[in-house]
Amino acid sequence: MRLRNIPRADNTLKANALVIKSPEAQRGCWRHVFRNDNPLYIEIGMGKGQFLLNMAKTYPDINFVGIERYSSVLLRAVERMDTEEYQYLKNIRFVCMDARELEQVFAPGEVERIYLNFSDPWPKARHAKRRLTSVEFLSRYEKVLEKDGQVEFKTDNTPLFEFSLEQAEEAEWKLIAHTYDLHHNKEMNLGNIMTEYEEKFSAKGNAINKLIIKR
Ligand SMILES: C[S@@+](CC[C@H](N)C(=O)[O-])C[C@H]1O[C@@H](n2cnc3c(N)ncnc32)[C@H](O)[C@@H]1O
Repeated sequence: MRLRNIPRADNTLKANALVIKSPEAQRGCWRHVFRNDNPLYIEIGMGKGQFLLNMAKTYPDINFVGIERYSSVLLRAVERMDTEEYQYLKNIRFVCMDARELEQVFAPGEVERIYLNFSDPWPKARHAKRRLTSVEFLSRYEKVLEKDGQVEFKTDNTPLFEFSLEQAEEAEWKLIAHTYDLHHNKEMNLGNIMTEYEEKFSAKGNAINKLIIKR
């Protein structure tokens, strides 16, 4: 997702206290940001934030950090936070960064769960390392996840899903659960919170794939 450049995005994000400006400075200290010891869950490539904002609303005892590469996209999530439905939330922060820098922002074991939702497929083989479920990214996740920490990934893109299953196996992660049709899998769909892309693609009739892995 890349929206056209929005000139006010950078200044609006700079002025918003929920957007962490020097995230490297919080490495190992995210509990101070939230002023509690609750578990830390992050979403990488959060887009306009629908999933994470609703997760934060549903689970007030979990701290959530949303990571998005483009300020013009993150702006939408931040603006949505300003609405009556979400403005009371205390358990969510945002970071505008590329997930390749993850280890500079989170200390070993600091993150309990990573959500990847409808990540960009990067269909060309030469771009495979950019896919957020490649072994290169799994190795970054391993460095910040706590011992039993999990990665949860949803996508309607079956080739990307197959690739992700293969990469998890190659990197020797444990497959905890997976489905090729989340919305018809009673157990895995329980409490499912839909992302923007999930709503869009399932409305078109696409089945949603989901996997849960841990190191
Ligand atoms: C296809 S959109 C999906 C948005 C949302 N997760 C959803 O399911 O509706 C993928 C998002 O991931 C972001 N993204 C892709 N690669 C990223 C990276 N390396 N670091 C941070 N964000 C990234 C993109 O900018 C885009 O907004």
